[in-house]
Amino acid sequence: MKAEADGAALDARDHDYLRRVVPHFLAWKDGAPFLYWFGPQPRICLFDYESVRQVLWNKSGHFTKTDTHPTILAMLGKGLVLVEGTDWVRHRRVANPAFAMDKLKMMTTTMVSCAERLIRECEELAATNKSGEVEVEFSRHFQELTAEVISRTAFGSSYKEGKEVFRTQKQLLALAMATLLNLQLPGFKYLPTKNNRLKWMLEKKMRTTLMAIIQPRLASKGSGFGDDLLGLMLEACFMTEQGEKRDELALTMDEIIDECKTFFFAGHETTSHLLTWAVFLLSLHPEWQERLREEVLRECGKANPTADMLSKLKEMTMVLLETLRLYGPVLTMLRKPISDIRLGSLSIPKGTGIMIPIPILHRDK
Ligand code: HEM
Repeated sequence: MKAEADGAALDARDHDYLRRVVPHFLAWKDGAPFLYWFGPQPRICLFDYESVRQVLWNKSGHFTKTDTHPTILAMLGKGLVLVEGTDWVRHRRVANPAFAMDKLKMMTTTMVSCAERLIRECEELAATNKSGEVEVEFSRHFQELTAEVISRTAFGSSYKEGKEVFRTQKQLLALAMATLLNLQLPGFKYLPTKNNRLKWMLEKKMRTTLMAIIQPRLASKGSGFGDDLLGLMLEACFMTEQGEKRDELALTMDEIIDECKTFFFAGHETTSHLLTWAVFLLSLHPEWQERLREEVLRECGKANPTADMLSKLKEMTMVLLETLRLYGPVLTMLRKPISDIRLGSLSIPKGTGIMIPIPILHRDK
């Protein structure tokens, strides 16, 4: 099945990549949820929206996140994406102020100047060609753009050190991908194998780089922590829920480091993939390129866009949402029930992995 799928060439306009990427899921699915094994863990794959809604909307803490592969954990950190319960509330309280609308609006200026630099680079490249045209690999450019944006918005003046974190995270991601399907025997993660030693070295490097960014901020507490993501998080760490100043950090140093890793990873790959696929789709639909160009010129004129202008770009938003539907960067969400539970006609035993296949749900018709 895999050989056949690997050999299948997809037409650029055929966005149904599932039969190429996960043909086994489509074969097993046959209109109903199916059970499969991920190493020693049974997992059930859900396809009906009502069950998925029940899992994701459940507020009683009945569905928790599943155990994470050790290398993914080292790369992503035990930040908001992975923490649970009261820890999640504590982390969320610290992260929320950084995502208030006025703060995001401030960050737009940084994003625009990073995008301007990319446009200038492409224009200069094109100018070296007689025809004024040039072929560029946008995925690479968008990776650099989003790395630049998150480094500058998260770490402000320390963005160069921030970029070092990316490089290390990338190496950890490559290692995680190479070992993801290896059987995780109990205790194996403690053995000094070649991969484990590499993982430990990269983990240590990432921690040292982040500590070097965070420590001076904490030391200069009197003059504020900075108005970037890290500064806003540190500021919130010293505030109580009632808005009073506290003496101790609300998150430990390790938790702050983990949250930095999470924002770096969650905010980088996701957005660069979104931009790449959006440009791919626009290249297939020049009429939509024209519509978006007209909309941008109508709402922003020739000026650089501001946050207020961006919120008026309705067709741009539609294109980005459709790109997320067809080529969303997050493929699955995983949960597990803490006790036996019924979901519709299914009885799911405690601890069974519940897999939510986002791209399949996005293509039910
Ligand atoms: C196209 C862009 C993005 C997509 C498609 C996306 C998708 C997702 C999804 C599906 C989850 C839920 C994961 C789960 O519960 O299992 C999530 C959570 C999260 N994402 Fe994103 N994300 C995007 C951009 C970003 C950016 C730019 C940041 C930060 C700078 C970010 C930070 C987070 C965080 C912190 C969480 C955990 C939230 C919580 O549980 O409180 N994401 N994202």
